Amino acid sequence: MRVLILDYGSQYTQLIARVVRELGYYSQVVQLDEDVDVSDVGALILSGGPASVYEPDAPKLPVWFDKYHGKVLGICYGMQLLAHELNGRVERGELAEYGRTEIRIEEEDPIFESVPRETTVWMSHSDVVKVLPEGFRATAYSKNGMIVAASDFQRFWLLQFHPEVRHTQFGRQMLQNFLSKICGLRPNWNLEDFITQKVEELKRELKDKKVIAALSGGVDSSVACVLVHRAVGSNLRCVFVDHGLLRKNEAEEVMRIFKNMLGLNVVKIDARERFLSKLKGVDDPEKKRKIIGEEFIRVFEQEAKSYGATHLVQGTIYSDVIESARSGKKTAAIKSHHNVGGLPERMDLEIVEPLRNLFKDEVRIVGEILGIPRDVVHRQPFPGPGLAVRVVGPVDEEKLDILREADSILIETLKETGWYEKVWQAFAVLLPIRSVGVRGDRRAYDYVLAIRCVDSVEGMTADWSRIPHDVLDLISRRILNSVKRVGRVVYDISSKPPATIEWE
Ligand code: XMP
Repeated sequence: MRVLILDYGSQYTQLIARVVRELGYYSQVVQLDEDVDVSDVGALILSGGPASVYEPDAPKLPVWFDKYHGKVLGICYGMQLLAHELNGRVERGELAEYGRTEIRIEEEDPIFESVPRETTVWMSHSDVVKVLPEGFRATAYSKNGMIVAASDFQRFWLLQFHPEVRHTQFGRQMLQNFLSKICGLRPNWNLEDFITQKVEELKRELKDKKVIAALSGGVDSSVACVLVHRAVGSNLRCVFVDHGLLRKNEAEEVMRIFKNMLGLNVVKIDARERFLSKLKGVDDPEKKRKIIGEEFIRVFEQEAKSYGATHLVQGTIYSDVIESARSGKKTAAIKSHHNVGGLPERMDLEIVEPLRNLFKDEVRIVGEILGIPRDVVHRQPFPGPGLAVRVVGPVDEEKLDILREADSILIETLKETGWYEKVWQAFAVLLPIRSVGVRGDRRAYDYVLAIRCVDSVEGMTADWSRIPHDVLDLISRRILNSVKRVGRVVYDISSKPPATIEWE
């Protein structure tokens, strides 16, 4: 049985699905216009969303809703929509009920089992249910007397607040109660079983086939490759392209871990000259990205052809699938050339996406179970075009070397001081500006290096990390003392938006 989450556009929809999985139940997010087979749906959750039920284009219940006869939990907009559809009354509420709110539970309800009578919840919608549909009773109120929970105790449970966010103190308990006590579901989701089943499935699907993958050393492609390798062994060829835009020791590390330690069939293509000569003198960031993307496909295509591959592994994960379904595209969003966009059509390759149903945290756990080192599995994101987008302006070997050295000092220092795991992403950027300084008694005229450390939610938005001054001081001193040609270090304090995380 699966738990279905109907997406009404809330920023927390994915979070509901993740929390449900963490509680041990298999969950899937569906869009309103998606076809759904309700036969194995054990619970339905309607997410929140930004709309108001009285707007002309307000999203409604899906066409298959009447075929589903199980229990339904409506959260926020989901509550308002259900109340509205069942002939209750929804009105604009007061903005005072935004954010953290104290509520009082007034009625026994299985959804509130083991939850104290007074508790804090997270509210994010200004519409409220004023009159409940017939047969419903209010079970909890806010301090101002607003209905925040209600039920008909048969089929529908309604929550005005978000049980999935951490600010709702007993939110997990409420979701757990809904799934186990109200829907009678038993936990059925664990990642060891997922691996066993997936490997069996891949063995059947890929028997005697030649499979190719682009291995970048990033989390998703690494876990996808190791999983497919479990199923088909050396019939999977992983191609690691060294485009000369990698971080210090990165190529050696990837080969050491995946070839020597984990025994994958990995070939390293040394394409450094090829990429750098194409990039020579190119200033425009988009042009740089395009050149790298196209060149990457060319290199990879050659390899795939000479290997005679029929299948291509991609590290698509569930967030990509949900995002692309939301934006109306049928295939998963191609984030970078490392997903080898364009190749499947050009070469008639069938795509294998073993992680399509997993969230990032789950991919990490699967990676750890498969024996991939923690360092790799918890690695920060790294853009496909690599250091080319961190050398602002034209790229050349000398600048790349300077950046590699400085970046490695930054990362080492953050690891040493315990900050590497606290920030979402940290890196150095070499600027095309030089500034005046003094070294010894001489005038110096060297590059400016920017340090970028951000806290982020999935890279969509970001804020600069509040790294302590002492740590910044250590980073700056070490770089200035040991990286020749860097004469000034600055810290980037821009949030996204309006800035992006990368500089190019
Ligand atoms: P921006 O700079 O757009 O970056 O705020 C958001 C996140 O995406 C990463 N990034 C990329 N990842 N291929 C990738 O796989 C790319 O071309 C690419 N460009 C940016 C960036 O490092 C950040 O984590």
